[in-house]
Amino acid sequence: MKTSIIGVGSSLPEKIVTNDDLAKIVDTSDEWIRQRTGIVTRHIATKETTSSMIEDAARKAIADAGIRAEELDLIIVATVSGDYRFPSAACILQAALGNDRANTFDIVVGCAGCVYGLNIADSFIKSGKVRYALVIGAETISKLTDWEDRSTCVLFGDGAAGFVVAASEDDSVGIQGILARGNGRDGMSLTMKERENMSPWADGEKVWDYLHMDGQAVFKFACRKVPESINELLDSLGLTADDIDKFFLHQANYRIIETVAKMMKQPLEKFPTNMDRVGNISAASVPCLMDEYYHKGLLKKGERHVLCGFGAGLTYATAVVVWDK
Ligand code: ACO
Repeated sequence: MKTSIIGVGSSLPEKIVTNDDLAKIVDTSDEWIRQRTGIVTRHIATKETTSSMIEDAARKAIADAGIRAEELDLIIVATVSGDYRFPSAACILQAALGNDRANTFDIVVGCAGCVYGLNIADSFIKSGKVRYALVIGAETISKLTDWEDRSTCVLFGDGAAGFVVAASEDDSVGIQGILARGNGRDGMSLTMKERENMSPWADGEKVWDYLHMDGQAVFKFACRKVPESINELLDSLGLTADDIDKFFLHQANYRIIETVAKMMKQPLEKFPTNMDRVGNISAASVPCLMDEYYHKGLLKKGERHVLCGFGAGLTYATAVVVWDK
C-alpha cells in the first residue's frame, strides 16, 4: 500500500510587494535582491491571517480531492506563525471545516514543514488508522520579520498550501519513499525566540524578538543536505537522479537551486521555481509550487517527482512521489 496525493490547494494574500517597494523602507535594491536570491515580488498579508489562508488552501485541496471535510481522519498544519499559541492552527482549521473526528495537531519545522507533515501522514496511513489526511503548510512570516533588517525582510512572503493524501492500493503511484531528519546541532543559525518570561519574579529583559538568520550557514546546510538526502533516498529506492522528472525544492533562494542542480548533474529545467513571484513562503513553499504547476497542466500523470523542504531546526525532509492525478 502507498500514500497518494489526491488533492492540492494554495492561498496567497492579495497584496504584492516589489523589491522597489522594499528599497523605500530599507537600504537595498531590486538588483541586489534579484542577484542574491532570485526574488522579485512576494505576497504580504494585510487583512489575511495565517488561519484564513490555511482555511482557503484547505478548502481548495479538499475540493480538488473530491472528498468531504468530515471524512478527514488526520489534520496536520506545519507553521511557526499561527494566530494563537493555542489552540493549534490545525484545531482552528478543524473547527472551520466542521470536522469533529480527526487527529489534529501542528508541527514546528519551519520550511521543511509540509514534506515533514507528509512523512507523518504517510506513517499514519500505512498504519491503517487513517484513510484521508490533510497536510497544510502555512506562514505569515511578515509578523516575525524585523522590517528594519534588510538581510532578512527581503527574503520572505506569506501564504498557505498543502495536500490531501489517501491510501492507494496501487504501489506504483504515490509516495515511493520519504525521509525526514533533524540537524539540531546547527539550529541556532535560524531562530525566532519565544517571548520572555513576563512573571514578576523572572530575571532578564522582557522583549519581543524577531527572526534572526545566519544566511551563509543556512545556505551551506541546504547545499550539503539537500543533495545528500535526495541521493540517499534515491539509492534506497534503486533510482538515480536521471529517473526523476521534476525536483520541487523549497523556494528559499535561486542560488541554492542552481547549486543543487549542478551537484546532482541535472538540467535546471527539471527544477521548477516560483520564488521570483512569491518569495520564500517557508512551510507553504513546496505545495504552493506544485499547486501552480498542477493547475497550469504541467504535472503529468505517472511523472516521478522529488519534493524537498529544508529550514529551521535545522530540519530537512525529502520524498519521491509518482504523480497520480
Ligand atoms: N540589500 C543590500 N545589501 C544587503 C542586503 C540587502 N537586502 N542584505 C544583506 N546585504 C549586505 C550585507 O550587509 C553585506 O554587506 P557588507 O559586505 O558590507 O557587510 C553584503 O550584503 C553581503 O551579505 P551576506 O550576508 O554575505 O550576503 P550573501 O551573499 O550571503 O546573501 C543571503 C545573503 C541571500 C541571505 C544568502 O546568505 C542566502 O541565500 N542564504 C540562504 C538562506 C536563506 O535563503 N534563508 C531563507 C530562510 S531559511 C530557509 O528558507 C531555509
